[in-house]
Amino acid sequence: MSGRVFAVTGGFGILGSAVGRAALADGARVALIDAAPAPAGLPEGVLALGGVDLTSTAQAEAALAKVVEAFGGLDVLVNVAGGFRWQTLQDGDLDVWGKLYALNTATCATTSKAALPHLLASKAGRIVSVGANGAVKAVAGMGAYAASKAGVHRLTESLAEELKGRVTVNAVLPSIIDTPANRADMPGVDPSTWVTADEVAQAILWLASEQASGVTGALLPVVGRV
Ligand SMILES: NC(=O)c1ccc[n+]([C@@H]2O[C@H](COP(=O)([O-])OP(=O)(O)OC[C@H]3O[C@@H](n4cnc5c(N)ncnc54)[C@H](OP(=O)(O)O)[C@@H]3O)[C@@H](O)[C@H]2O)c1
Repeated sequence: MSGRVFAVTGGFGILGSAVGRAALADGARVALIDAAPAPAGLPEGVLALGGVDLTSTAQAEAALAKVVEAFGGLDVLVNVAGGFRWQTLQDGDLDVWGKLYALNTATCATTSKAALPHLLASKAGRIVSVGANGAVKAVAGMGAYAASKAGVHRLTESLAEELKGRVTVNAVLPSIIDTPANRADMPGVDPSTWVTADEVAQAILWLASEQASGVTGALLPVVGRV
């Protein structure tokens, strides 16, 4: 990854920060973009852009312009920003469907569109997005979330066709990631079967690498030992 420029959305979260660390360790230059304020103690050399709402085209474009200004270009966009909500239709709130669409599908589309002019100028432009294995076949309570992540999957396929020969576009589909939030939500479940954020990050890094030049439109399950 030496010298390659990464922009990682959701970069202050559990998976986004793992992607940032892995890319840095591989020699990349890394910008983390997130709605949250920048945390203290980020590794030296990381460009931290906090307070950015990636459902806004103007904010996404401004953040990516700062990345290009700081590093002289952009080679890889990793769309990690997103979120989860479990609710049944019977007891749930219909507004959540729109909220999860904005959080998962719209952030991915908005940021990918804003990054395109920069990625097209790279000799090996890459988009890697984070979908969800739970969106391939939804179970009870997962309707709104699965629909919003299915949007990420369909965008990945469509954009891969649109950009064929110019920028590769792929997605990883994690199952349950071993995070503090998941451990708190599922106290009776053995987390050792879950995939780790570092394992998901390594799959993302390979799709972002120059070696993965022949892979586009892939929806790669990263499901650990579940
Ligand atoms: N955890 C799992 O088991 C799992 C499984 C499958 C897929 N995924 C997907 O993997 C991704 C990362 O998960 P995670 O567990 O690392 O989540 P996380 O720790 O909550 O990180 C997500 C980050 O995205 C940011 N974000 C949310 N909305 C944004 C927006 N509009 N603009 C910019 N940034 C925004 C969040 O900021 P705020 O905190 O300020 O909102 C947060 O820092 C998500 O897309 C998630 O759906 C997770």
